[in-house]
Amino acid sequence: MTSARPEVPVHVAIIMDGNGRWARRRGLPRLEGHRRGVEAVRTITFAARDLGVGMLTLYAFSAENWNRPADEVGGLMGLLEFYLRKELETFVRDRVRFRTIGRIEGMPPGVRRLLAATEEATAGFTGYTLNLALNYGSRTEIADAARDYAAAVAAGREKPDDSSWETFSRYLYTAGMPDPDLVIRTSGETRISNFLLMQAAYAEFVFTPVLWPDFSKEDLAAAIAEYGRRERRYGLTSEQVGKSAAPAAQ
Ligand code: IPE
Ligand code: IPE
Ligand code: MG
Repeated sequence: MTSARPEVPVHVAIIMDGNGRWARRRGLPRLEGHRRGVEAVRTITFAARDLGVGMLTLYAFSAENWNRPADEVGGLMGLLEFYLRKELETFVRDRVRFRTIGRIEGMPPGVRRLLAATEEATAGFTGYTLNLALNYGSRTEIADAARDYAAAVAAGREKPDDSSWETFSRYLYTAGMPDPDLVIRTSGETRISNFLLMQAAYAEFVFTPVLWPDFSKEDLAAAIAEYGRRERRYGLTSEQVGKSAAPAAQ
């Protein structure tokens, strides 16, 4: 997958954080923040495509988020169902391919059915992909991949002597997807929270104080512009990558 404009990242991944604080600041229940967060998901899904991004991965529910209060977890699952029911038609109409990463087998059956239907209905679209990270954690992803890789070695399908990242990465949830070029986290937190640890090995990171429900197309464009000012060196020297190492204009 290549982008028409080289300064635009092919794959943007976002840690959507700050729904709870958004609600608290307004004296509203946390779930209201999540509801507004879903609105931002809608806006950013199409904003990313308009800006030339090829794939958008959104961290929607982490493997650790199950430990939140039961009513919040239940509310989030309800919102997800509502969102999927509503969006299926939109994705088909606007030719958005829908995919997921995470331990999907651990999601509630009703959500799983909707996820499968949405993936199936949009599987033929190639221009733009929305990828939702659900029940996702990098550590469970590695553990699952190691289990499946070991099973493939035991069955004689893989030769352990040939071990390489290229081979092993085919056992990750992200098999066949490009690595994220740009990872954005909203809400002012500057941590990765078990998200795409391996895949983000050479990603650029942008942290913004904006809370997720307030994150707009302009904020996304600003993060992409910041990405465009970075020099990705992959271990090489600035001279080797052939771009000026001068600091970006303020
Ligand atoms: C992100 O917002 C949404 C999920 C993790 C599901 P939070 O709910 O984490 O919001 P804060 O961090 O409490 O403000
Ligand atoms: C990360 O946000 C997970 C998602 C955005 C889905 P959290 O709010 O759960 O992360 P921590 O707990 O602040 O690290
Ligand atoms: Mg949070």
